[in-house]
Amino acid sequence: MKILVVGSGGREHAVIRKLKENSEVEKIWCAPGNGGISKDAECVDIKATDKEKMVAFALNNHVDFCVVTPDDPLALGMVDDMEKEGIPCFGPFANAAIIEASKAFSKDLMKKYGIPTADYQTFEDEKEALHYIKEKNEFPIVIKADGLALGKGVLICETLDDAKAALREMMVDHIFGKSGNKVVVEEFMTGPEVSVLAFTDSKCIKPMVSSMDHKRVNDNDEGLNTGGMGTIAPSPYYTKEIADTCMEKIFLPTIHAMCKEGRPFKGCLYFGLMLTPKGPRVVEYNCRFGDPETQVVLPLLKTDLLTIMQACHDETLENVDVEWSNEACACVIEASGGYPVKYEKGFEIHGLDENGQHDGVVVYHAGTKEENGKFYTNGGRVLGITAKGRDLSSALEKAYAAVEQIGFEKMHYRKDIGRK
Ligand code: AMP
Ligand code: GLY
Repeated sequence: MKILVVGSGGREHAVIRKLKENSEVEKIWCAPGNGGISKDAECVDIKATDKEKMVAFALNNHVDFCVVTPDDPLALGMVDDMEKEGIPCFGPFANAAIIEASKAFSKDLMKKYGIPTADYQTFEDEKEALHYIKEKNEFPIVIKADGLALGKGVLICETLDDAKAALREMMVDHIFGKSGNKVVVEEFMTGPEVSVLAFTDSKCIKPMVSSMDHKRVNDNDEGLNTGGMGTIAPSPYYTKEIADTCMEKIFLPTIHAMCKEGRPFKGCLYFGLMLTPKGPRVVEYNCRFGDPETQVVLPLLKTDLLTIMQACHDETLENVDVEWSNEACACVIEASGGYPVKYEKGFEIHGLDENGQHDGVVVYHAGTKEENGKFYTNGGRVLGITAKGRDLSSALEKAYAAVEQIGFEKMHYRKDIGRK
């Protein structure tokens, strides 16, 4: 088997290391990949969104299976183009990737099929949105750009003035470009957040172990939202009872709804959930593996990943037993100082061996480059230091012990991952 993985972050690194456990995998390319990934796969200098070049590369190199991991190429239809050329893929077609690419679409889907989520209204006019918020007069209120916005398109507004400013930024100043032409205004929910990633072939859905992201940049959930500063799995809040409720009220209804809409979803469907006092509700869907959720979920997978991915493609997932370890896993992100706003790159990273790894943990590379056997920072999120343990405390202890020994100038990381 020759496999092409599209993407370049810690999540892709985790997918690649898991795929490599299958002895039938003889070759993995990663496009574009990064310095650390180059130790586990051959990196190819093609942008993740360059559909034409990616398909040409896959054809020229007789790729047997392609894993399209990030949201943008999925929304752009990279899977559609690959499959047209006969290259089987793991990942949804563009018409199903819309479940992440348009928040208005996903909210309307949930409303139509009775899937629990926050109450909302969609607006294309700034004045109408403001009028609605004034009438409602309940704060905080949540304003979301409809389209993809690098995880930054959600603003929680404490006052009417905040809401005015948010609407202006999105709809008038277009800080998120076209993504803010339409906005969703929704009720503010409370409760612990849980991420559940699930394998699906559109008819059958098999959830992975639950996980919990830490989105804010600083300890105690302070500061700006980021792509994620660390994760743990499983989430202690996600009980068997809650899991059963989610299967019945959220997971199955969602994949059935997508089929009914003529948009069967195959791949990894990510449920961002909030465990509210009224029960679990959907905060968001993603059409892909989460980052850094994948880094703590896949190490706990006991079943061969390629077999599962092929079954999602072939619509035979029902026949695969997906098994999980009872251990816990923790990932602490080492980020560049200043992330998610402005940061420098190019600092040498110390504490890594020649493969970019460190004893006792797995180091997933998110934004690194390698030159002459040394690793350098090359992005906002740089490394994900990941450890497994018999329970959460021991996993965290191992991960943080390694964090002390791996680093670079101006490094920033959260010291409270998994503490809550
Ligand atoms: P999203 O990109 O939709 O996942 O939103 C980013 C983050 O904003 C979520 O992880 C939540 O912490 C927060 N958020 C989004 N929608 C709501 C809501 N309706 N109520 C409370 N918090 C929310
Ligand atoms: N960690 C959140 C995401 O991948 O969207």
